[in-house]
Amino acid sequence: MASGVVVPSMLSHEESQLYHWLGRSVQGDGATVDLGAFAGGSAARLLSGLALSGRQHHLFAYDHFRSSSAVWAKHLTGFPVPRTDDNDILPIARQHLAPWAGKVTFCPGDIAASHWTGGPIEILAVDAAKGSAIADHIAAEFFPALVPGRSILIQQDYLMAAQPWLPAQMVMLADHFLPLAKVDKDCVAFLCLSVPAPDALAAARTDVLTDGQLMQRVRSAAKWHDGVIPRDRFKAMLDKVRAHPGVRLAWQMRRDPGR
Ligand SMILES: C[S@@+](CC[C@H](N)C(=O)[O-])C[C@H]1O[C@@H](n2cnc3c(N)ncnc32)[C@H](O)[C@@H]1O
Repeated sequence: MASGVVVPSMLSHEESQLYHWLGRSVQGDGATVDLGAFAGGSAARLLSGLALSGRQHHLFAYDHFRSSSAVWAKHLTGFPVPRTDDNDILPIARQHLAPWAGKVTFCPGDIAASHWTGGPIEILAVDAAKGSAIADHIAAEFFPALVPGRSILIQQDYLMAAQPWLPAQMVMLADHFLPLAKVDKDCVAFLCLSVPAPDALAAARTDVLTDGQLMQRVRSAAKWHDGVIPRDRFKAMLDKVRAHPGVRLAWQMRRDPGR
């Protein structure tokens, strides 16, 4: 990483490069918000780019900042694995982001209960929309702060089969967001063209949808992205909805049906 600090991340190499490049490309028109920062990996990649931008910048890192011992063992190598299953990782995130300490605000807690009052947002990285309700909350709370023609929205899990509410949400906002790039397997970045009004955000809600309505929206999203994103990615989402009727949480969608 440009700062010389290697911070562990769940992002792939290509996604890491995207985050760094987006940070480096800011114009100083708003904050950078990292929703789902875990131990600071995505934030570090954004910050190492922001530091090279020559522009005013500040990053807000949101997360529960808690980790199970299994996730800890996999992603926080170098720190002794605790025996308990609900461990505070905020001190580790602070340690990881110490090189940019004055440029970071940590926002620990439930994003689903968060309220954004920090003004315009130039980069919004979403890696915490692991259910339809929180995806709706993130859109309602953070999308109104995006800057038309400038802000980039990263939907980190956009093409994950277990998160069909993301394309179902974004296709309803197609007048407001231009898909810019698919990076690696699941990540898609969008340019904000215009700020969705409250009625557009209400119409884009996904937690209220029946399975049939959710699947119809996923089919519309497949058409929206036709020629760029292979249809089988959306077919996999439809298969997940069929296999898990009524389920709206990613971790439950990933289970084998019948278990
Ligand atoms: C895939 S991880 C993020 C990985 C991170 N971006 C990185 O670069 O390593 C998803 C994160 O979202 C957080 N998250 C999910 N739902 C949340 C919620 N409702 N409130 C706060 N954090 C949440 C989890 O705690 C987890 O750290």
